[in-house]
Amino acid sequence: MAEQRNIPRHIAIIMDGNGRWAKQRNKERYEGHIAGVDSVRAVVRAAVRNGISYLTLYAFSTENWGRPQAEVDAIMELFCKTVMNEAEELCRQGVKVQIMGERTRFSERVLEMIDHIERTTAAADRLTLILAFNYSSRREITLAVRDIAANVARGEMAAESIDEEVISQHLMTASTPDPDLIIRTSGECRLSNFLLWQASYAEFYFPETLWPDFGEEAFDRAIEAYTQRDRRYGLVTDNVIE
Ligand code: IPE
Ligand code: IPE
Ligand code: MG
Repeated sequence: MAEQRNIPRHIAIIMDGNGRWAKQRNKERYEGHIAGVDSVRAVVRAAVRNGISYLTLYAFSTENWGRPQAEVDAIMELFCKTVMNEAEELCRQGVKVQIMGERTRFSERVLEMIDHIERTTAAADRLTLILAFNYSSRREITLAVRDIAANVARGEMAAESIDEEVISQHLMTASTPDPDLIIRTSGECRLSNFLLWQASYAEFYFPETLWPDFGEEAFDRAIEAYTQRDRRYGLVTDNVIE
C-alpha cells in the first residue's frame, strides 16, 4: 500500500511554535510544550495509520540548553512524564522508540527514562519513532569525522576508502534511511541544525500552523502534498529510479 500511494518512508518534523502558541494565550512557554505533547500523540497515530516506517521528531536541540533554566527543566520533566505515561500505548501501537542525540548533560532520571522507553518498546516493529533530544547535526557530523579519523590513524581504514556510505554509517542515523519529507511547523523556514547531511534530497513542507495546533489532519495534508512532488535527484523525470 505504501508503494502504491507513493507515501514517504521517513518523515522528520521540526516541532516549532510552542512558545508562540502559549504567548497568544497569555500562558507560560512551558504550557505550550505541554500542549505540544498532544500533537506528538496525534502525529504518531497518523504515522501508524498511514503506514510510515520512520518518524523523527526534533524535540530538543543542543542549542536549546541555552534557554532559561526553568524552561529547560520543564522540558526535561515533560519528557520524563510523557515517557512514563505513553510507553504502554506506544507498545500497543507497535511503535519502537529510539532517542537520538548525545547522552551528555542529562540528569540521571532523564537517562533512566531514555533507557526505559527504549527497552520497553524495543520489540515493536510497525513504526520507528526517533526522538532527537540533545541533538545537533554539526555535532553529529563532527563526532563522525573524529571516529573515522581515529579508524584511519589506527590503520583500520584507508583514507581513500572514505565515501558517502562510510560517512552515513558513522552518523547517529546509521540505521535509518534519509528523510523523504521534512516538515517544520510555525512558518519558520530553516533547519536549525537538524539532519543537515541526511536532508540532501528531502522534500520540505513549511505549514504556518503552530506545533500545538498540528494534528492528524494536518499530517495527512503534508503527506498529500508530498505525493504531488516530483523528486528528480538531479536527473530528468523519465530516468529516475526510486
Ligand atoms: C519548539 O517550540 C519546541 C522546542 C524548541 C523545545 P519553541 O519553544 O521553539 O516555540 P517558539 O519558536 O518560541 O514559538
Ligand atoms: C528547533 O527549534 C529545535 C526544535 C524544534 C527542537 P528552535 O525554535 O530552537 O530553533 P530556532 O531558534 O528558531 O532556529
Ligand atoms: Mg522555536
